[in-house]
Amino acid sequence: MAKDSSSAKRKVHFEPGNIDVVVEKGAVLRDAAIQAGVRLVAACGGAGTCGTCKVLVEEGEVSTTRTAKLSDEEFNRGMRQACQTKVLTDLRVYVPVESRLETAVLTRERRGLSGATPATEALATGWKFGPPLTKYFLQLPPPTLADNVSDLSRLLRGLKQRYKLSNMTVDFDVVRKLPQALREQEWRVTVTTLVTAIESLTAMRRPRLVNVEAGDTRKKHYALAVDIGTTTIKGQMLDLNHGRVLADFAEYNGQIAYGADVISRINYCQKPGGLAKLQEAVAGTVNSIVEQLLAKSRVERKDVSHVSVAGNTTMLQILVGIDPKYIRLAPYTPVATYLPPVKANTLGINVPDHAYLFTFPLVASYVGGDIVAGVVAAGIHQTKKLTFYIDIGTNGQIVIGNADWMVTAACSAGPAFEGGEIKHGMIATNGAIEECDINAADCEPTIGTIGGEKPKGICGSGLINTVASLLETKIIGQNGKFQADCSSHRVRQGDDGREYVLAWAPETQTGKDIVITELDIQNLMRAKAAMYAGCQTLIKSVGVKRQEIQQVIIAGGFGSYINVDRAITIGLLPDLPRERFVFIGNGSLMGARLACFSTDIIDDVRRVAKLMTNFELSENADFMNNYVAALFLPHTDVEEFPSVVKRMESLISPGGGN
Ligand code: FES
Repeated sequence: MAKDSSSAKRKVHFEPGNIDVVVEKGAVLRDAAIQAGVRLVAACGGAGTCGTCKVLVEEGEVSTTRTAKLSDEEFNRGMRQACQTKVLTDLRVYVPVESRLETAVLTRERRGLSGATPATEALATGWKFGPPLTKYFLQLPPPTLADNVSDLSRLLRGLKQRYKLSNMTVDFDVVRKLPQALREQEWRVTVTTLVTAIESLTAMRRPRLVNVEAGDTRKKHYALAVDIGTTTIKGQMLDLNHGRVLADFAEYNGQIAYGADVISRINYCQKPGGLAKLQEAVAGTVNSIVEQLLAKSRVERKDVSHVSVAGNTTMLQILVGIDPKYIRLAPYTPVATYLPPVKANTLGINVPDHAYLFTFPLVASYVGGDIVAGVVAAGIHQTKKLTFYIDIGTNGQIVIGNADWMVTAACSAGPAFEGGEIKHGMIATNGAIEECDINAADCEPTIGTIGGEKPKGICGSGLINTVASLLETKIIGQNGKFQADCSSHRVRQGDDGREYVLAWAPETQTGKDIVITELDIQNLMRAKAAMYAGCQTLIKSVGVKRQEIQQVIIAGGFGSYINVDRAITIGLLPDLPRERFVFIGNGSLMGARLACFSTDIIDDVRRVAKLMTNFELSENADFMNNYVAALFLPHTDVEEFPSVVKRMESLISPGGGN
């Protein structure tokens, strides 16, 4: 199998899965995996710095650039970083469990909600059900010699007489379909109109006539709401007649193969053909979600008339095919606040040609339509309560305000919350350790994994729980370092310094001990310090005090699964009475859904985007000071975390002492 030949084509065989792919000699092994549909974790997007794409080359020859991410033992065994390896001959490659991106587990049982209230529906109130997309049925009189106005004039006249609709714009595609549609069912037609946020709030709404169908199709009236996250994409099929969700589905964003965070995606876009590849990847994932939604809801594709999409600035720009390069270059400008609606199928999304794609407004380079959607869904624009909205993640986003004012900022927390740059870190999927309680008496952990499987790594929420537990049991100190006097056999010297063993090799899927290292703890501390410093800086900038915050709304897929008590223990969330915390879940998807159900909400979206004042933290000296002060567990300023300090004082050390 491993023989070289004069042909430039090489076959790569992947296991498990028994998958073959033919590539050019010299192709990068990671690209071969993408081509084969073999999903590898690739957190750094192929830069060679994360080591998450390791595979075992069982047969054949490769050339590789070795990095520090590969130990001698791994290298001698045949392990290679797929992104740093070129195919020379036919190959047989084994993908170990820790490098596989398994099927997404995107909705799971909520656990560890200690001290917070989950909101299962949007918190926004008072909006009227009235979708921006409307179907009107008309029975028109056929033309006669005495009344032989054009088909379009006849249609518009009918709309004015029957529904008092005037001043419309008409899509060319409607005109093209019109002669056939009018005559197919004896001048009985249904037209679809759309109003969007692109209309000025002060102007009269000017509906756009987007579709015409023969007969009465009013009962078949559907739209899609989509949240495009950097890690996952979630979609819902909506019934616009009854304001119901008919189906939902989620998938990992296909762009993951090109890097875990927005920066690696922006960088990838700068490669030749990079933007097109990422655009195709995201459109491909949306399409696979659309297929699932159609199948689950039994809706026919032709009856889907609208797509409402929320997402961060980078994701939305890539989706519509606009280079996100200037997002990461000072002075950090997005392409536009309002992206005009665009026909969804021109972006490669497999919906009918009359369906427009509406995107939420972008406030700044790192404060995107997902935050605007979430803030509207959370009803912050309707409340007098001083509200703190937080979406924790690699690119964390925060908002403080109420109906009268809002300030916002993005905090670049790094990938630790997604399991990135953590020795045994992983995305929150089956086998990820998400719960950890350590017994103070003997330092033994009780762990829980997603899906109840044997552990294979640790996800972001598991990391928070573990570090909080290590701190509470005083196995680590407030500087995040292991205490010198800890005698537990679980604390040992590893390759990367001191570490704590969460699971022994025989208990794990990988056959290796799963540990949390001092380096991992420092990475988590940096991530939580960035989030908390952002929060402190924003609070101070508007002249309010932490205690004055009346509600804290935690949004986002990651935030849904954190334990508030423990997030406060490590200094990630502000120390406030627990009843002030509310989990809203995927606020971005909620906002996208509401915008399909109500033109009131579309107006709110415009108003919120205008109301938000963005703070650029990367240039802010106060933020840097706050960040340094937050690099401690929970914080160098004990007055910031009174309840944690009190609890810590009451806890015992390993071995029973105080
Ligand atoms: S090291 Fe290969 S993707 Fe990061």
